[in-house]
Parts: sequence; structure tokens; C-alpha cells
Amino acid sequence: MSSGSSLSSADELLKYRLNARYGATPVLREVEGRLAAGEIAALVGLSGSGKSTLALALQRLLHYRGGRVDGSIVLEGTELMGLSESAMRSIRGRRIGYVPQSPGTALNPKLRVRTLIDETWSAHARGRMDDAARQTLLERVQLPGTGAFLDQRAGELSTGQGQRLLIALAILHGPALLIADEPTSALDAITQAAVLRLFAELNRELGTAILFISHDLLSVASIAHRVDILHEGSVVESGPPGRIFGEPVHPFTRDLVDAMPKRP
Ligand SMILES: Nc1ncnc2c1ncn2[C@@H]1O[C@H](COP(=O)(O)OP(=O)(O)OP(=O)(O)O)[C@@H](O)[C@H]1O
Ligand SMILES: [Mg+2]
Repeated sequence: MSSGSSLSSADELLKYRLNARYGATPVLREVEGRLAAGEIAALVGLSGSGKSTLALALQRLLHYRGGRVDGSIVLEGTELMGLSESAMRSIRGRRIGYVPQSPGTALNPKLRVRTLIDETWSAHARGRMDDAARQTLLERVQLPGTGAFLDQRAGELSTGQGQRLLIALAILHGPALLIADEPTSALDAITQAAVLRLFAELNRELGTAILFISHDLLSVASIAHRVDILHEGSVVESGPPGRIFGEPVHPFTRDLVDAMPKRP
């Protein structure tokens, strides 16, 4: 059985230890985590516990939200904290894919699907994608690859379609790490399950490591190899889903497990 401590540095994709604050208010306190290549780790915490703050901090984007970060973020052997903004821009979208919390605000509603794909492509690649490549990408996330769909504007998509499109854009350049911030919380139960299966499939087929952020312990249990529990800005417990469910140690984790719906 593998454990965090037996992880060889060759397998290690991401390792971080961070503090984050907004003004004088600390939000993350010595939050530590690591991800092996190809691993799915879930970060679970209540609303306001600092999940989106961590997602942005790991990409060195927190200053856009008025936050400050200190600590260390090592991705593929490179310390990100010391990198220039232009070096970070070449990493974001290429080595780190990001699925933000809400498709409604993340996609410009006036832009057509084709334009959104092309803009994402040209951020890190030359030339143009053709319709066959766009079709392959859309079908990868179970969206129609038709010309009619490519002509639709983002504002005309359903929330589930918008969420799938965000995932397609996030994997376009084949990132080693995908950070997904509550990618299923706005979806109905059936669509939620389908999008979770899609993440598991992308992980299996492309080998993409995923940091899957959620407030819902139950929904991540089926896909995560490891669960980190975030409570009041600190990771209070970390382990495989079976252990977290079966033998929760921290009182907060026990409350989370107890609050889960039980089978009748
Ligand atoms: N720009 C900001 N300025 C000040 N405080 C902020 C700012 N953004 C977030 N916060 C505070 O930081 C804390 C963590 O916010 P964050 O968005 O990271 O939580 P979250 O775990 O993602 O919550 P949710 O599940 O609701 O998305 C909250 O108390 C929030 O009010
Ligand atoms: Mg959030």
C-alpha cells in the first residue's frame, strides 16, 4: 500500500505548504498537501473553510481576489512561489488546468463555443485548431462535436453543458494537474454522477492528477484516492476514503460522516 511518506520524489507532482490571508484575516494556516502523478485527491470542507482560496493560491492567483499567500508550492520539481508572473502564465492552463467554481461567471456568455476553444488553444499553442480537433475535444467531455454546437454562445448552454465545456477547456493542453473547484455542486444528482464519472475517466485515460474540491464528502468518495479534510483553514485529517468513512479520527470529520445521509 502506498502512503504519503513512501511516495518517491519521482512520483511526486505537487507539494505545498501555505498560509493565506485577506487583509489581516488569516484564512489558511500552514495548510499542507501533496499529490502524486495520476492521483485524485479530494479536498473537503464546509462553505467558507478556504477551499477556493487554496485553489487560487496554488495557481498564484489569490492577489486578484485581494489575498496574500506565503509558503511553498512545488510543482513538477519547480518552486512556484519565486516565479515571475509571465512564468506563471506559461504554467497556468498548460501544466495546471483549472475548473472554476461557477460556469455562469467563468464563461463569457456572448462568446461562441468555437471561440472559447480557440482562445484557450492559442494561449499556449501556435496555429489554429480545426473542427475535427475541436470535435474530439468536445466528445472527450461528452458534448456534441457538431458545427451547430460550436456555433452556440456560452450563455445558451445549460449549467451541465457549461460545466463540461469548462472541463474541456481545462484539459485542452493536457495538464499534469487539474484543479476542480466544486465542479458538480450546481448540477442535479444524475448530471453530478455523470460529471464525476467523467473526471474518473479523464484520470484513468489521460493520467491527469486531480485536486477535486467539494463540500460533499459522499460525492467525492467514489472517485478520490485520498481525502483531505479542511476545517477552519487547516487540514485536520487525511486518508483514503474508506478509512475516513470507517474510522474518522478528528471530531470535525466524525461530525461530517455522521451528517451523511444513511441508507434506509
Ligand atoms: N476577497 C476576499 N476578501 C476577504 N475575505 C474573503 C475574500 N474571499 C474570501 N474571503 C473569506 O475567506 C474565507 C474562505 O473563503 P473561500 O471562498 O475560500 O471558501 P470556500 O471554502 O471556497 O467556500 P464555498 O464552499 O462557499 O465556496 C471565507 O470566510 C470568506 O468570507
Ligand atoms: Mg469556494
